[in-house]
Amino acid sequence: MLERVHPVRPLRASQSGKLIGTVRVPGDKSISHRSIMLGSLAVGRTTISGLLEGEDVLATAAAFRAMGAKIEKHEDGTWTVDGVGLGGLAEPDDVLNMGNSGTSARLILGILAGHPITCFLTGDGSLRKRPMGRVIDPLGRMGATFTSRDGGRLPLAVTGAEEVMPIDYELPMASAQVKSAILLAGLNARGQTTVIENKPTRDHTERMLTHFGGKITVEPLDNGGNRITVVGQPELTAADLVVPADPSSAAFPAVAAALVPGSEVTLPAVGMNETRTGLFATLQEMGADVTFANEAIEGGEPIADIIVKGGKLKGIEVPAERAPSMIDEYPVLAVAAAFAEGKTVMTGIGELRVKESDRLEAVASGLRANGITVETGDDWMIVHGTGGKIPGGGTVVTHLDHRIAMSFLVMGLVAETPVTVDDGEPIETSFPGFVELINGLGGKIAAT
Ligand code: S3P
Repeated sequence: MLERVHPVRPLRASQSGKLIGTVRVPGDKSISHRSIMLGSLAVGRTTISGLLEGEDVLATAAAFRAMGAKIEKHEDGTWTVDGVGLGGLAEPDDVLNMGNSGTSARLILGILAGHPITCFLTGDGSLRKRPMGRVIDPLGRMGATFTSRDGGRLPLAVTGAEEVMPIDYELPMASAQVKSAILLAGLNARGQTTVIENKPTRDHTERMLTHFGGKITVEPLDNGGNRITVVGQPELTAADLVVPADPSSAAFPAVAAALVPGSEVTLPAVGMNETRTGLFATLQEMGADVTFANEAIEGGEPIADIIVKGGKLKGIEVPAERAPSMIDEYPVLAVAAAFAEGKTVMTGIGELRVKESDRLEAVASGLRANGITVETGDDWMIVHGTGGKIPGGGTVVTHLDHRIAMSFLVMGLVAETPVTVDDGEPIETSFPGFVELINGLGGKIAAT
């Protein structure tokens, strides 16, 4: 069965009393995907603690199992991956279904580009709309061949190159997925593959490749970007990993705590990689009481506890160059902006149109359905804040997008009348236990 079939689960969030408590949000999605992928390409056994067990990561694990890696969950909650070694993946005997996950699809295409096998990939109704041309183009230059639907959409077939050509490639958009796909394909090339990113994007692939013994250099550019070079055909050796809590998931209880008066929420051991933390800087600029404690390094990634207290917010201009470091957080930032006094201007956010949904459109219509004035253009959005009184009362269409669902449930916790999301089931892709976690802090989210 190719379609992701799930029961539609409408949820409603109502105005809540203060949110109080300490809660650990699930493991980082980006790092979890990469731990399964690099673990599968390494020689030996990788043990992973804190892996996100959301549907997206489980789709990645299923794909690598289908290609020969042994991936298991143990009673103590850790996962192990017994890798097949670089170049050792076997042809899967069925279509790989990547569900809702763009990261799985694009990074796996990079890995498959360096394996001379043929694979067929598909995904759910959301993923089948998303552009794959952005990886097909550079991976095609490296010698892989693709047959895809019109516009480079899934389902598609890929046949990896016998001899991978190393390339130098300047990213046409700020995308860690495209960067990672090329670097992963470059692992099987004879020679060096270079990616130039003019805006820094999340660097988990680079960090983890180093952790597994890969040879990768990152040279900062004058424009703030990076030139990243990977040496092909390294020996990747299994290495244990600890996955930090996901800052993109922490964003939801953090914004909820910032908006609900009297709240105080602590989120322990959240990933603080600076390519990911733009939202927290933005909330601080808006006047939110956000502080950090217990800063440490875990598994090559910085972590800290985040403490958020409720208070007043003011609208600001979010710098466009900050967008890649908070690209997944704009939907929930828009909710904070609706609550703030004055307008919040967000620019340089065209990439939101090609996420799990067209998030610019989905956010704007969700805000309007709940009485908020919003203006949008191709790559910008202005939210007119109410200074605290969000009318609410609307039903938000989530378009199979977990972050749209969670953002508007957060809005419902402070709105004058409850906010309904038409389907909360996609939350399982990234944040299993979201409703219970928010309700455990004092929130009011229920099935309708
Ligand atoms: C991701 C990169 C980002 C982000 C996505 C996860 C990754 O996508 O939106 O949720 O793990 O590399 P883009 O590369 O399309 O910006």
